Amino acid sequence: MRKHKTHFHRLLNKFLFCTGFPRYNKFLFHKQYINSDHRINHRLLSHYLTYLDFINGWFHREEAQMFLWLDYIQKKGNISGNLFEIGTFEGKSSLLLALMTNPESEKLGLCDLFGGMDWDLEWGKVNRTVIVDYMKSFFDDVNFIKIYEKRSDELTDNECNNCRFIHIDGGHSEEDTLNDLKLASKSIIQKGLVIIDDLYLQNLPTVTDGIYKFLTNENSLVPVAMFAKKLLLCKPEEHDFYMKQLRLTEWKKYITTPGLTTVERKLLGKTVFVFGVKFFDEIKDVTLRVH
Ligand SMILES: C[S@@+](CC[C@H](N)C(=O)[O-])C[C@H]1O[C@@H](n2cnc3c(N)ncnc32)[C@H](O)[C@@H]1O
Repeated sequence: MRKHKTHFHRLLNKFLFCTGFPRYNKFLFHKQYINSDHRINHRLLSHYLTYLDFINGWFHREEAQMFLWLDYIQKKGNISGNLFEIGTFEGKSSLLLALMTNPESEKLGLCDLFGGMDWDLEWGKVNRTVIVDYMKSFFDDVNFIKIYEKRSDELTDNECNNCRFIHIDGGHSEEDTLNDLKLASKSIIQKGLVIIDDLYLQNLPTVTDGIYKFLTNENSLVPVAMFAKKLLLCKPEEHDFYMKQLRLTEWKKYITTPGLTTVERKLLGKTVFVFGVKFFDEIKDVTLRVH
């Protein structure tokens, strides 16, 4: 779990965002490569990437870069629809989803219990004002964002629908994982993507259980890629389309993790594109030790 390094860090963070500083800051500018035809506010994106490490949460730079790459693939293919996130915490990943959303034609839905986690005691209560302050520090008009303060299994079909991009990072029980995947599979458009967090995380095996149960019992979504601790899913008919896009080496411009390589592997019978650091070196190390 990433905590603020010091109390000062936390106060500084609060000050920066409450004053809308990221938006007005003309000096700090993170250099991130994105294609010039990527329809996103390049200036605000740079500010987001500058402040990423200041925001509490579990969303890493590599994951943010991967989301951007997927956003580019969808926008290049004129794939338009709503974005949705289950499990926002303080908005580290939600802010990027907000930047990816085209407010003219798309909506962003955010669902969280706000305050239902054990570690709230340690960090102070997480409430929705934190995320609202972040959003207001980036956008003049936040009407394209709707926050649902409840359990994800209480979401209705009207609240989560017509989505091109759904990020699941909420309840980590097997039941919640299954429920969220079922909801996502009903709520995406034909070329929509579902990204679920924490596959194969050793301290959260229930998420892996839920994912496997969903993928073996339902055929509405299939795995197409794995990166960091996330699994990317799409509709079975779109698997070829996304594999083709993911194979483009353009991802190397977006994702800058040193030593990142890719391999294609089978997961539950489907080919998946796996992004990982130094696969082959690690395998070589193991072989050397065995012999
Ligand atoms: C790991 S955190 C999310 C991290 C966040 N995506 C980030 O970028 O830092 C999980 C969040 O899910 C929320 N949560 C837990 N169970 C939930 C449920 N059943 N429905 C909705 N949200 C839930 C928690 O309140 C918590 O804020």
